[in-house]
Amino acid sequence: MSKQPIPVLLDGDPGHDDAMAWMLAAASPALKILSVTSCSGNQTIEKTTYNALRVMALLGINAPMAMGGTPMLGKEMPVPAVHGASGLDGADLPEPKQAPVDLPAVELMAQVIRSSPDPVTIVPTGPLTNVAALFAAHPELKSRVERISLMGGGIAHGNWTPAAEFNILVDPEAADMVYRSGVPIVMAGLDVTEKAMLMPSDFDRIRAVGGKVSTVIADLLEFFFQFHKSLGYPGCTIHDAVAVAYLYAPELFTGTDMYVAVETGGRYTRGATIGDVHNLWGKAPNAHVLTGVDREGFADLFVEAVSHWKED
Ligand code: BDR
Ligand code: CA
Repeated sequence: MSKQPIPVLLDGDPGHDDAMAWMLAAASPALKILSVTSCSGNQTIEKTTYNALRVMALLGINAPMAMGGTPMLGKEMPVPAVHGASGLDGADLPEPKQAPVDLPAVELMAQVIRSSPDPVTIVPTGPLTNVAALFAAHPELKSRVERISLMGGGIAHGNWTPAAEFNILVDPEAADMVYRSGVPIVMAGLDVTEKAMLMPSDFDRIRAVGGKVSTVIADLLEFFFQFHKSLGYPGCTIHDAVAVAYLYAPELFTGTDMYVAVETGGRYTRGATIGDVHNLWGKAPNAHVLTGVDREGFADLFVEAVSHWKED
């Protein structure tokens, strides 16, 4: 008997790796995309919203899209050094084929969750601003969320400060609310995503598939690699794609259940995710923390996924 596709709500700040995460989601028959929402992160909310619509047009994602909010207490923190001035530099993306719906992201998410016959999975690949606001405004909908498969945090270390990963650092208050929400979390943090690398030889395999999507993804990878190369990495870490890949290829990953807390104060540690590896707090785990990946199997997923559009 074939399994029903997993209903997913994509929420992100595209962003090169967000675009690649959404590409895996759009290609996989194991997932059904119910909505797309933007958040402020890699670029301003206006730019990530426009980029989200361009990525949807490229991939033919047919779902309602809504614009999200800006970090709860903080300011926007665009990172043009990583993703370029547009937030998605390096490739020729099509113009949007649709406009955002006339609702805030939180209300679109609420509507979609309420009308889904089955509990949904939320896949946040940016700061957790929208998800926290959703749970604050509609706490009754938490029970309709099967799990949150998110990219954010790192138990061992950060990437934007020694302690904090970018998505959590941009909106620690939101992340704290989500990690304490009681909704099961799969955490694709730096512990696994820094091992989830595509190498230049993988870029070539992706380009060799042919078609518009393969070209755009390969061009995005080449651009993203410039930043990684400047840090001495041999390839690109495709952080956000792990949050999607885990849903339909969990056999590629290893992980551990633990309680994870988010630091919202801290002289040096604001935005850190503290994993209680030895269960010293004695709390029930709130997250399945991914730690290992079959890198080659992960790379193969991309080649298979772009093949979905090879005739376009
Ligand atoms: C995260 O930060 C962003 O730049 C990426 O899109 C990813 O979501 C990695 O720390
Ligand atoms: Ca992202």
